[in-house]
Amino acid sequence: MGEQISQDRPSKPLRKHGFVSALLERMTLAEKIGQLNQLQGGDAPDAELLEHVRAGAAGSVINSVDPTAIARMQRVAVEESRLGIPLLFARDVIHGFSLVAPIPLGQAATFDPGVLEDCARIAAEEASRNGITWTFAPMLDIARDARWGRIAESLGEDPVLAGRLAAAMVRGFQGESLAEPTSLAACAKHFVGYGAVEAGRDYATTLIPPNEMRNVYLPPFRDAVAAGCATLMTSFSDLDGVPATANAELLDDILRREWGYAGVVVSDWESVSQLAIHGIAEDRCDAARQAMLAGVDVDMASESYADFLAQLVADNRVSEAVIDLAAARVLALKLALGLFDDPRIPNGRGVSDIPESWSSGVYDAAVKSAVLLKNEAATLPLKQGSCKTIAVIGPLADAAHDQMGTWVFDGDPGLSVTCLQALRDRVGDVEFTYAPGLSDSRSRDESGLADAAAVAEDADLALLFLGEEAILSGEAHCRADIDLPGAQELLLARVAATGTPVVVVILAGRPLTLAGALPHCQAMLYAWHPGSMAGPAIADLLFGAAIPSGKLPVSFPRMVGQIPIHYNHKRGGKPASDDSWVHIDDIEPLAPQTSLGMTSFHLDAGFQPQFPFGFGLSYVEFKYRDLSLDRRELKPGEQLTASVTLCNNGDLEAEEVVQLYLCDLVGSVTRPVRELKEFRRVTLGPGEQKQVDFVLHSDQLRFYGRANEEVLEPGEFHLWIGGSSTCELRAGFRLLPPD
Ligand code: GLC
Repeated sequence: MGEQISQDRPSKPLRKHGFVSALLERMTLAEKIGQLNQLQGGDAPDAELLEHVRAGAAGSVINSVDPTAIARMQRVAVEESRLGIPLLFARDVIHGFSLVAPIPLGQAATFDPGVLEDCARIAAEEASRNGITWTFAPMLDIARDARWGRIAESLGEDPVLAGRLAAAMVRGFQGESLAEPTSLAACAKHFVGYGAVEAGRDYATTLIPPNEMRNVYLPPFRDAVAAGCATLMTSFSDLDGVPATANAELLDDILRREWGYAGVVVSDWESVSQLAIHGIAEDRCDAARQAMLAGVDVDMASESYADFLAQLVADNRVSEAVIDLAAARVLALKLALGLFDDPRIPNGRGVSDIPESWSSGVYDAAVKSAVLLKNEAATLPLKQGSCKTIAVIGPLADAAHDQMGTWVFDGDPGLSVTCLQALRDRVGDVEFTYAPGLSDSRSRDESGLADAAAVAEDADLALLFLGEEAILSGEAHCRADIDLPGAQELLLARVAATGTPVVVVILAGRPLTLAGALPHCQAMLYAWHPGSMAGPAIADLLFGAAIPSGKLPVSFPRMVGQIPIHYNHKRGGKPASDDSWVHIDDIEPLAPQTSLGMTSFHLDAGFQPQFPFGFGLSYVEFKYRDLSLDRRELKPGEQLTASVTLCNNGDLEAEEVVQLYLCDLVGSVTRPVRELKEFRRVTLGPGEQKQVDFVLHSDQLRFYGRANEEVLEPGEFHLWIGGSSTCELRAGFRLLPPD
């Protein structure tokens, strides 16, 4: 047993912050530093790790998920350490635990905060059963580069969408109260700008001008902080020459002083010691000094704090007061989680059943995240009885692991229902034949193509499930060419050449360049990596038991050379338009130098994406008309109501994501050509029409101006409401100067 702890162990914890300061006063410097040390756990804690815990030399453990191991470590912390301070157990529960929801980019395509809150809640309820108390999600990095593997984990390219959805995920993970036994501390990451890595190559440098930082990359984090996110994580990346993990301007000036954030800041994996690799620190000791002084409270896995902070204090290079502050934040988090009352020691192996409500939750998310990109001649939905034989083809058709996508450390493929399984289970009167065609998404072995073509030849329809294996997206998995990998385009062409009608379903972790696939199919459904319930969701969407309603949270480039390409771009001084450019194939011989149009476009790709942000088709046609504003002039502090009539011209009940965009025509800095400001899912019955109203407050017109101060500038605004970022129904209003 530990030392005589009765006089040390805190009495029944006070409910006030006084508890933390009282506990701090009892702690040695080594014990305070211990709270800042996050150790790699695993599921068989060895004697060394247990001794660290017993000595109070660890405040949290990452990557232990076995309830028995967690129970063992927590008992040592609470019953055998001098002060009995409980541990936090952290894990990347990004989009599910054993039951997996769509990847966050797919969830973002729902444009439905309620879906993301539900998915986070399901993940928290399952992970907390094992004793997990801290998840490293939501990831809020604005992502405009589909080459970057981590776009899969992001909430897309728009700051308003990402902010609203991240706040919903925080609510889902953290529940009504952090002290609830199923609540996890959420973590907004990666602070900040990680999505702007050069060339879309992970861990590369990021160069983000202050005005872009303020208007694009910081706002989602401010929304997560406003939603009460308990922790933040610093980015690996070097931001304009100063890595985020050593960036006091970010972590202290903005996060603490300007935003008043009182939560815990954790480094990314060994990003403290990596400061020496970046070359901003002489060695790990200097790295520890810089990270601590910048504002990183917890050192994930590098043990630089454990190895050097005590010496840095002894040498007066770091004051103990700074360490007290960091330790106080960690203790306050543990108090907020209720761990001093209930250290949440799992009892036994943990429950493993998956309630039906969870499965239907992730099914709903998979249904709402799928985006219908093409549907020629209303090929979809497939009518029951219209096909006797359907050929199911492709490397993603029966892919229990890959359909879950990236960040599924604890994902259980045994819980997956694949597309092939679901079609056979859920659709009667059809024979589903099957030929993968390729062994995996990267295969260039053409030996299976003939068999796939033969199966297609004998069928009334070919359903191709193409895309990316899970390993091709996610951290450190970037691609310089984002076409369908391997010989998938060849497989598609061979099947299309049979003359059998083709429907393509894409399962992928990023936008792909689809120019080589689109011509060979009558319809295309983009399902992202839809998670455990991919099969039932996609089968129901294909056969009309569910109706596609997803919208793109990120622009799809025609060619990878267009990247970065995003809808909320600046106009520039010579913007392109439909009639202002010539395609490379249409250039006349000896064309004069200035005959091709002197505007902003690529000769071989033009200036528009393949599919724009906010785009997604339905099985019905939605029409917008009668856009009106209740006022044409707005004063600071006032609000206006924008109304539109939405019509469902189809014969099915369906949901539409109605979107409201603004353009500030003139500003003290150049302003995006469009900015999403509001969105809402609306359900309309067949033939129904409904007025949809949005309230827009003048505060939503604020931005960071030339002095990087938040401003509200009078002037003309255009306002659009429609079903994508290219919607044309427009009205105008003027913001007046303050009285
Ligand atoms: C990883 C990721 C981060 C994750 C952490 C812990 O490298 O960058 O998002 O939460 O390490 O696994």
